[in-house]
Amino acid sequence: MAPAKAILFGEHFVVNGSRAIATALGLWTQATAYEKPSWPIELESPALGLRCVTGPELSCSSREAAPLLAVAKALRGAGVDVPPARVIISSEAPASAGLGSSASSSAALASALAGLAGADLSREELYQVVMEGERAAHGNPSGVDPAAVIYGGTIIFRKGAGVVGTISPSLSVPLIVADSGARRSTSAPVLSVIRFLDRIGGLRDSMIGLVEQIIDLASDAIRKNSLEDIGNLMNINHGLLSAIGVSTPELEELVHAARRAGALGAKLTGAGWGGSIIAIAPPEKTNDVVSALSARSRWVRALKAGAEGARVVEASN
Ligand code: MEV
Repeated sequence: MAPAKAILFGEHFVVNGSRAIATALGLWTQATAYEKPSWPIELESPALGLRCVTGPELSCSSREAAPLLAVAKALRGAGVDVPPARVIISSEAPASAGLGSSASSSAALASALAGLAGADLSREELYQVVMEGERAAHGNPSGVDPAAVIYGGTIIFRKGAGVVGTISPSLSVPLIVADSGARRSTSAPVLSVIRFLDRIGGLRDSMIGLVEQIIDLASDAIRKNSLEDIGNLMNINHGLLSAIGVSTPELEELVHAARRAGALGAKLTGAGWGGSIIAIAPPEKTNDVVSALSARSRWVRALKAGAEGARVVEASN
C-alpha cells in the first residue's frame, strides 16, 4: 500500500529546475493481489474506473491502465517475474485531485506484484519502476510524486537528483486539504506552464530563483515550527502559481475561504486547473477552517503530514 502526497512548496517550478517540498499523507491506496495459476492478469480499480485483462504481453485496451501496465513492464525489466494475478486497487484519496493518486496506485501495484513474486525491491528500485508509470501518465514528470509516496515523510526534492533532503519532524499542525471537485489531467497544465515560462524571458529564472528562496525559508520554518512563516510562504507560493496560470476561480474561492476562517496560509497543491488546496491554521482555528471549507467542498480532511512511505502488507494466493 502507498500513501497520498501533498506538495507543500514548488509544484510546477520543480519540473522547470527548482526544488520542491512534498509530504506523504496517511490516505492509503491499497493494491490487493491474489495469485492465479495461469494468465491473464486482471487489474481493477473501481475509483479510477478501470478494468484491464492482459496476457504476458502486458497490454490492454483501457487507456487509464497504461501507467499501471508501464509499471508491470518496468517490474519485469527490473528482473521481477511478474506472476498472473488478480489485483484490486482501492484508495482513500480522491483520484485526479492533486494528491498523487497515480503515483500511489503505481507504487501500491508494484509493491503488491513484487510481494507476490517474492521479490524484495529496494526503495530506489521501486522508485525507478513507478517513474515508468508516471512517464506513461504524464510525459514530463519531475519525479516528486513517486518520491513522496515511496520514501514517505517530508522531503526536499530536485528533478534529476531525487531526494536532496528530509525535514523531520514534519509540520506540527494538521494539513487541511480540500478538493475543489474539478478533475484534470496533470500533463496539460504541466505543458502549459513549460510554454508559459519559455515565453517570459528572463522572468523565468527570476521566478525559479524566488521558488528556490521559498524552499530554503520554508525548510527552516518547518524545522523551527514557525507556523506564521510557513503560512506566509504558502501564500506567496500560491501567488506564483496563480501568476503562471494554474489556479481556477474554484481554487481561489477555497484558498480565500480558508484564509478568512483563520488559516495562516493556503495554496493550491499539485498541478492545478482543478484538484485540491492545502491550508495550515493555528490549532485553535483548525476546526473553523475545516468548517469554512466544508461549506464549499465535498471532501475536506485535516491530516497529519509526514506519513510512512509505500510498503507491502498483503499478498494472497
Ligand atoms: C504534480 O503533483 C506536480 C507537478 O509539479 C508535476 C511534477 O512535478 O511532475 C505539477
